[in-house]
Amino acid sequence: MVGPIPNPLESLLPAEQTLPLLLKGQKAIVTGASSGIGRAVAIALAQAGAEVVVNYVGGEQPALEVVNKIKAAGGRAIAVQCDVSKEDQVQAMFQRTIKELGTVDILVNNAGLQKDAAIHEMTLDQWNIVIGVNLTGQFLCAREAIKEFKRRGVKKDVSVSAGKIICVSSVHEVIPWAGHANYAASKGGVMLMMKSIAQEVAPYRIRVNSICPGAIRTPINTSAWNTPEAYAGLMKLIPYKRIGEPEDIGRATVFLASDLADYINGTSIFVDGGMCLYPGFATGG
Ligand code: BGC
Repeated sequence: MVGPIPNPLESLLPAEQTLPLLLKGQKAIVTGASSGIGRAVAIALAQAGAEVVVNYVGGEQPALEVVNKIKAAGGRAIAVQCDVSKEDQVQAMFQRTIKELGTVDILVNNAGLQKDAAIHEMTLDQWNIVIGVNLTGQFLCAREAIKEFKRRGVKKDVSVSAGKIICVSSVHEVIPWAGHANYAASKGGVMLMMKSIAQEVAPYRIRVNSICPGAIRTPINTSAWNTPEAYAGLMKLIPYKRIGEPEDIGRATVFLASDLADYINGTSIFVDGGMCLYPGFATGG
């Protein structure tokens, strides 16, 4: 019998993989795409043939680097600044996308942040910013995307669906998280918002799903993995014994956005190395 991999701390997949052209001819908006998960998702969608809007809110430079990387590989991308928690900015981003790319087939609602605090010290600002970006931002973008999906309808040569929304949620849509009540509330909210919208728009052949990442190596959680001690502590929470890479989420997003996933609707797909499997019970109980 083959035992556990002795030192399974890294992904055994190459970071850069060739992806099948599952999204050829489709136009995608990825929010928060200048770093972390959003960056990897934008690059993966482009590798799969989509034209991509690389949304960013802060520095333009990292967004342009993503755009240039996509272009250098023969793809098409534009960088569009927009704070997803602001209605007028979201509407302007969709208008510009439709003007420049013609339509939107895929929305990846990825922009998100953490403002961690003990509950008795959490300020209303910390609460409002997290709910504003992580939950209201996803609503505002989903609403504009659905308007466009309904206007255009199905174009079978592009996709058998009129449009796809992928909400980047978190394992914390189901795992409570002390010290992060605002964040967990936002992701719990994303779960039922996603399912309710999916139920409502399914008859228009619009698919709405979530991807729930576990611990992924990105700037949002650097302190959870950037020292050997922190990494060892993190591994106690991950049965698969490696941190997730942003590309793990990129690949899952390509699949979920593609017609291969046509009958998947209103579902949360956990991409977490088993973080939700109550790892304490591997030995306890
Ligand atoms: C959070 C990370 C965290 C991970 C697992 C994510 O949603 O943003 O900070 O490491 O969940 O707990």
